[in-house]
Amino acid sequence: MSLMQKKLDDLLQKRAEARLGGGQERIDAHHAKGRLTARERINQLLDEGSFEEFDMFKTHRCHNFGMQEKVFLGDGVVTGYGTVDGRLVYVYAQDFTVLGGSLSETLAEKICKVMDLAVKNGAPVIGLNDSGGARIQEGIEALAGYSDIFLRNVMASGVVPQISAIFGPCAGGAVYSPALTDFIVMVKNNSYMFLTGPKVVKSVTHEDVTVEELGGADMHASQSGVADYAAVDGMDALNYVKKLLSFLPQNNMENSPLVATDDTPDRWDEGLNFLIPDSPNEAYDMKEVIVRTVDNGDFFEVKEKFAPNIITGFGRYNGHSVGIVANQPMHLSGVLDINSSVKASRFVRFCDCFNIPVVTLVDVPGFLPGTNQEYNGVIRNGAKLLYAYAEATIPKVTVVTRKAYGGAYCVMSSKHLRGDINYAWPSAEIAVMGGKGAVEVLYSREAQSDDDPAAFLAEKEQEYSDTMANPYIAARRGYIDDIIEPARTRFRIIKALEMLKNKRETNPMKKHGNIPL
Ligand code: HXC
Repeated sequence: MSLMQKKLDDLLQKRAEARLGGGQERIDAHHAKGRLTARERINQLLDEGSFEEFDMFKTHRCHNFGMQEKVFLGDGVVTGYGTVDGRLVYVYAQDFTVLGGSLSETLAEKICKVMDLAVKNGAPVIGLNDSGGARIQEGIEALAGYSDIFLRNVMASGVVPQISAIFGPCAGGAVYSPALTDFIVMVKNNSYMFLTGPKVVKSVTHEDVTVEELGGADMHASQSGVADYAAVDGMDALNYVKKLLSFLPQNNMENSPLVATDDTPDRWDEGLNFLIPDSPNEAYDMKEVIVRTVDNGDFFEVKEKFAPNIITGFGRYNGHSVGIVANQPMHLSGVLDINSSVKASRFVRFCDCFNIPVVTLVDVPGFLPGTNQEYNGVIRNGAKLLYAYAEATIPKVTVVTRKAYGGAYCVMSSKHLRGDINYAWPSAEIAVMGGKGAVEVLYSREAQSDDDPAAFLAEKEQEYSDTMANPYIAARRGYIDDIIEPARTRFRIIKALEMLKNKRETNPMKKHGNIPL
């Protein structure tokens, strides 16, 4: 055997060793929990054969607590690049079979390397997380490693899309890297994120709580809003990531890919003319408007279960990717509250970072009143949405389908916040407040001296609604550019977006604004 052949055999053997991560026994145990390994996840995510790996021979440098005996090639994370639907992505996948995927100094160096390359070369970074947190034997080096990653998350924010999928544990400070990324996908009954686990919670607050209740996928997707999607299994999570990527550009200097469609731009939908119920208090499903107007009814929702009184997600109009924000009358009458404001403002800001136009569908009775909202800062949080729409320079097209009352009218991409094209359906009610509230403020004293106060107030309410609750007053001022037939909504949105496609708008020079956090 030639010397070179020996060296080649040695290389192959080392590669095979690295590919086994923590060893076959640990891989089997991992599979037994219904989990894929780091490499299996990468293979499922990327186009077949496209993965190019870095640093598979990298090892840790720790000598504490017998760590010199526990050395694994690759040290608990698989990193590199490949393609999804032919488009470049950088990826890292923590390998739980190696010391629980715990984060060492060297493991962090591997992650930082792909993040640096992603920013330099303008492509998304996808982190597949499954880790017991900071490597306990290392201590400060591991903490330094986390901090190096956090810094890169922040520097990459708004430059390249960053997506995190959580497949197992993600606890302690480790949660903050995913939290700094643009989207988080979790897996039901298999992944969890929390700052402190159930045992610490018990000792500090005396609460009895399970891992799933404290930081499971369902909780984060519906209550905390930390997760954008709770996947049923690992494959579902990876498919969600792939589909999400299809709507996004590679970086902040590019536009999203154009996807050819056989759905004609001028498709009419007569059904939309009859979607709004006669009674203003009756709900209808705003998702109907979205699904019936986007290309082939394909709407990709994010944060579906969190603050469902507002809908956020991606769709396409005539092949062009757009972000859609829509009040949902089916939940809390589509009212704006703290959670829906935070959800929508983050979404609008994401779209603005990445040149994705926003279409806003409005049916909002106002902001949710009450001590709960006020005590928890609905002023500060509602201001986030105002801020997000006002600073956004992407094309903004708004359609008011029904109610647009008070401050909520201003917030929802109104003309005054630089809405580019603002349409209303004939059913729109654009006014400072609803008839009932207005009449109580204006006529309650007069009503008291009337023989029939209830009938007096009802008559005044009708008068107020007849005069104010329509789109024509706003249209007369030019705050609404046109009142459109609902059946033509798709066509009118597509025409508006086409007209706006070369929009150029800049904000005053500044280091950065001071969004009310
Ligand atoms: C070193 C770790 C580790 C860690 C797990 N392992 N976590 N090694 N550092 N943080 C090792 C285990 O010793 C074990 O090694 C192997 O990984 C698998 O772990 P198991 O405990 O057998 O697995 P499981 O029963 O599934 O439990 C998973 C777990 C548990 C819940 C994640 O391992 C755990 O509680 N780990 C510690 C979590 C933690 O407190 N991390 C530090 C958080 S502080 P062997 O060789 O026995 O198989 C932190 C600060 C970051 O992260 C701050 C950043 C700002």
